[in-house]
Amino acid sequence: MQNDIDQVLIHRADIARRVEALAKQIAEDLALASASTSSDEHDHAGRITLVPILTGSLVFVADLIRCLPVRMQVKVISISSYPGPSTTSQGPTILGGLDTLPKRLDGANVLLIDDILDTGRTLAMVIDHLKAKKPRSIHTCVMLRKQRPEEARFNADYVGFDIPNRFVVGYGLDYNGYYRNLPDIVTLRAEAIHQRRHAEAV
Ligand code: XMP
Repeated sequence: MQNDIDQVLIHRADIARRVEALAKQIAEDLALASASTSSDEHDHAGRITLVPILTGSLVFVADLIRCLPVRMQVKVISISSYPGPSTTSQGPTILGGLDTLPKRLDGANVLLIDDILDTGRTLAMVIDHLKAKKPRSIHTCVMLRKQRPEEARFNADYVGFDIPNRFVVGYGLDYNGYYRNLPDIVTLRAEAIHQRRHAEAV
């Protein structure tokens, strides 16, 4: 697997430091937001609900929530934009989870979490669904934001790192299902992409 790496864009130590800093900032903001609403256990007032978009945010969310010392619920949803051997977005498709979210989120402070902000279509689509549930607030957090000056797009409230517009894997991100377990965020050698694509076709 190590031989497939072209370049390490973000090392695991830098990721760990940034996740802690992000969590500190988020915890302060969430604590303020939930304190400013009445906390009634029978509705969602003042509750914090994290909505991670799987599968790419899996590792990021696992690290982030362990640095967030606030009472929260976690409700995952699953969306795919890069099915199979794609290295360009095919547009977001909901795979599951939206129907398992509470019917209403009145008064809840929602934090929507994704791995990468690319065109912004994924976050925009999920936010539309969430808004219908009437939460008190919706904030967004992404580990990576691709620099795509040509795209007029949605922005996120919390961003881990800005990266060039290249296809990346590791730290939860995959190519054709592989490489999620790499601890660093990396680009792949063209030969590796070719091999993994071929492997899928066999
Ligand atoms: P949009 O364009 O909707 O895309 O903002 C966000 C989703 O696309 C996936 N994505 C990637 N996945 N390497 C990946 O493994 C990448 O370089 C990449 N860029 C975008 C990702 O699932 C994200 O949720």
